[in-house]
Amino acid sequence: MTHTVPHLELTGVSIDFPTPNGPFRALNKVNLKIEEGEFISLIGHSGCGKSTVLNIVAGLYKATEGGVLLDGKEVDEPGPERAVVFQNHSLLPWLTAYENVELAVKQVFKGQKTKPEMKEWIEHNLNLVHMDHAMDKRPDEISGGMKQRVGIARALAMEPKILLMDEPFGALDALTRAHLQDSLMEITSSLGNTVIMITHDVDEAVLLSDRIVMMTNGPAATIGEILEVNLERPRNRVELSDDSEYNHYRHAVLQFLYEKQRNPDDKTEASKTDKEEMSEEASMASEKLTDNKPEAA
Ligand SMILES: Nc1ncnc2c1ncn2[C@@H]1O[C@H](COP(=O)(O)OP(=O)(O)OP(=O)(O)O)[C@@H](O)[C@H]1O
Ligand SMILES: [Mg+2]
Repeated sequence: MTHTVPHLELTGVSIDFPTPNGPFRALNKVNLKIEEGEFISLIGHSGCGKSTVLNIVAGLYKATEGGVLLDGKEVDEPGPERAVVFQNHSLLPWLTAYENVELAVKQVFKGQKTKPEMKEWIEHNLNLVHMDHAMDKRPDEISGGMKQRVGIARALAMEPKILLMDEPFGALDALTRAHLQDSLMEITSSLGNTVIMITHDVDEAVLLSDRIVMMTNGPAATIGEILEVNLERPRNRVELSDDSEYNHYRHAVLQFLYEKQRNPDDKTEASKTDKEEMSEEASMASEKLTDNKPEAA
């Protein structure tokens, strides 16, 4: 029997946060194995612990029990092989788009790349996210979507083994989001890196993922179900919008979120109307997303 070590492995990950009323168990016994090159989405209601999982993998938080192995080595601090894209684009406001990416590139490739090689690499990554025309602009001179793209370029430029993204497109309008999702699919399929992305968007999860990890509500949240998405790549959002298999996956996620794990903030009986509203909203969002036009720069 052959035994292969998974690329990334979370084993019995639990975390207690200190509070004035004693420890608060946010995550309880999270187990997950991820293969190299997999695209994983984490989905679950607000406050269930998605960002906490990501922060533990990033090495920013330490698990109270259990731990994370990357290629068999324990993760206990942040490292450039695990780049993070935060939800609120975390660019340095006094640096241009180019300089923000340059800072990360210098950190990772110091002594390995010459000055001209670094320049070429920075421009290449800004090109990937279609930001080459605004390289010399500072964050306050560009739109939210553009800032997010610079954040993604910065993360990609570090050539991370693992790309960790916390609702990277959450704050963007539907068209920009669709455009960035398509670029992300292209980029990750050509680079073959592993991605863990948190999202609240069911369509986004199905379109992008190899597996969707669905979390139970907290406290003591854990993985409820894992859905394998066996849709062929490359994936086309317009073609998939009336594909029965695609809709089957979408339905499975909606069912998990709105029937099996109801929103903890919703104290009323899960009325049919609520659920209908939810699915209506979701399908409206998906219709908007199928209207795939590039973002006007
Ligand atoms: N540093 C911290 N100290 C104390 N409690 C924390 C801390 N970080 C997170 N928590 C708690 O842990 C739980 C999970 O939080 P987390 O931010 O991981 O949720 P989330 O799933 O990312 O939510 P959202 O979708 O709203 O971003 C919440 O109850 C939160 O209040
Ligand atoms: Mg979060």
